[in-house]
Amino acid sequence: MSTNLIQAAYLLAAVLFILGLRGLSSPKTAVRGNQMAAAGMLIAIVATLLVQGVVSYGVIIAGIVVGGGIGAVAATRIEMTAMPQMVALLNGFGGAASALVAIAEFMNATGPLTGIVPIAIVISVLVGSVTLTGSFVAFAKLQELVGGAAVQYPLQGPVNAILGAITLGAAAMVVANTGNMTAFYVLIGLSLVIGVLLVIPIGGADMPVVISLLNSYSGIAACATGFVLDNSALVVSGSLVGASGIILTKIMCDAMNRSLANVLFGAFGSIEEVAGEGGAHGEIQGSVVSYTPTDAAVIFSNSRSVIVVPGYGMAVAQAQHAVRELADTLEENGIDVKFAVHPVAGRMPGHMNVLLAEADVPYDKLVEMDEINPEFPETDVALVLGANDVVNPSAREDKGSPIYGMPILNVDQAQHVFVIKRSMNPGFAGIQNPLFFKENTMMIFGDAKKVVIALAEAVRNY
Ligand code: TAP
Repeated sequence: MSTNLIQAAYLLAAVLFILGLRGLSSPKTAVRGNQMAAAGMLIAIVATLLVQGVVSYGVIIAGIVVGGGIGAVAATRIEMTAMPQMVALLNGFGGAASALVAIAEFMNATGPLTGIVPIAIVISVLVGSVTLTGSFVAFAKLQELVGGAAVQYPLQGPVNAILGAITLGAAAMVVANTGNMTAFYVLIGLSLVIGVLLVIPIGGADMPVVISLLNSYSGIAACATGFVLDNSALVVSGSLVGASGIILTKIMCDAMNRSLANVLFGAFGSIEEVAGEGGAHGEIQGSVVSYTPTDAAVIFSNSRSVIVVPGYGMAVAQAQHAVRELADTLEENGIDVKFAVHPVAGRMPGHMNVLLAEADVPYDKLVEMDEINPEFPETDVALVLGANDVVNPSAREDKGSPIYGMPILNVDQAQHVFVIKRSMNPGFAGIQNPLFFKENTMMIFGDAKKVVIALAEAVRNY
């Protein structure tokens, strides 16, 4: 296969990656976008295999079968609620793959490396290794293999800064003299350590943001490896992952009204320890009104408009199909139903959109926060389904609240608010929610799926 043909195949792959990303920007075109990007990857892989006799085809096929088999089993078995952990692992493996390829190129070099190659190698090793260990710590925190609290200790900042400086020094020595194996091993070892040290001071609550950032790092490592191998498809795909990961990180930070520096160095997770039950923001603030689904059905049946606000609890209970059926029942009774989606509801970007799409809720029923907020005062019923922090009025009203400034869905402005959750336990941020104590709020305690099924049944029988 001629070089021109290979480059043409890489160009086609790059175009498909870009079109794929564009498709992913809307739920309607997401599946197609995914397919286009996958086709681009297939073209890039086939073109690479046709030219580069790196290892035998037997080894490559064995790798595809083993790796692909493990990936397929893991992806089909994984619970939707554990998807962030899965992404963390995939990012880690991506970083490791880039670093390993760069290490192999360095070790196998027959003469001194020149031009951009040594620089690309140290970037790939450094960023790829940080991504590997950082992602595994993020995985362990989310999977609760280790505590989710932010780990802090004396002189943490200065120690990290010194280790960072030594690592950069080792990287510079490798670039200056590509025969300096000691500096190369120090670079690998310290990069792995730094990945751990950078993620342990971040609380479990911020892991989704960290995972998105590590996703970006894995792209940067892949891009650097592209320069090492002189492979333009890898450079393009790595750049796209690096850029889209950082954009997603920014979107998440904006949605929580926090800076990236605050997420990385603010030790937000340590709040959980002081603000749980009885803590500064965890006090019970009055009495709550508890309703049964049958009582609630009376108000639902007599309303004209309902806005459903899903949150993490809907994902835990897998209540998306039940809530679609409830919405259908309400609409059959002439009631207007919409779904309000907060950008950081759940535990990963687009979490609610994915679940509601899986339950065939029409896209035009999903309304974003800025668009739906003016509608709450005119709405008869807001149904908060396993959401908590994203509807907490403290974010709007209480300057002392850890989530003050985070944009929220203004459900408290609806005529009636029903909150379905199992207990008075706080949400992800570990703080109590004054919404539950408001006069127009009624709690329906129980598992979201069971309560919604009972509610739909009660509305049908009303
Ligand atoms: P949360 O504030 O975490 O609240 C979820 C609520 O669901 C809890 O109060 C819990 O109460 C309830 N719940 C859990 N299982 C349930 C079940 N089986 N049935 C009924 N209720 C159940 O969720 P949210 O409002 O979606 O907010 C998301 C949080 O994650 C925010 O703090 C956000 O900043 C953070 N976060 C999200 C992201 C992304 S990208 N989504 C990224 C970073 C951070 P009970 O235990 O009493 O049932």
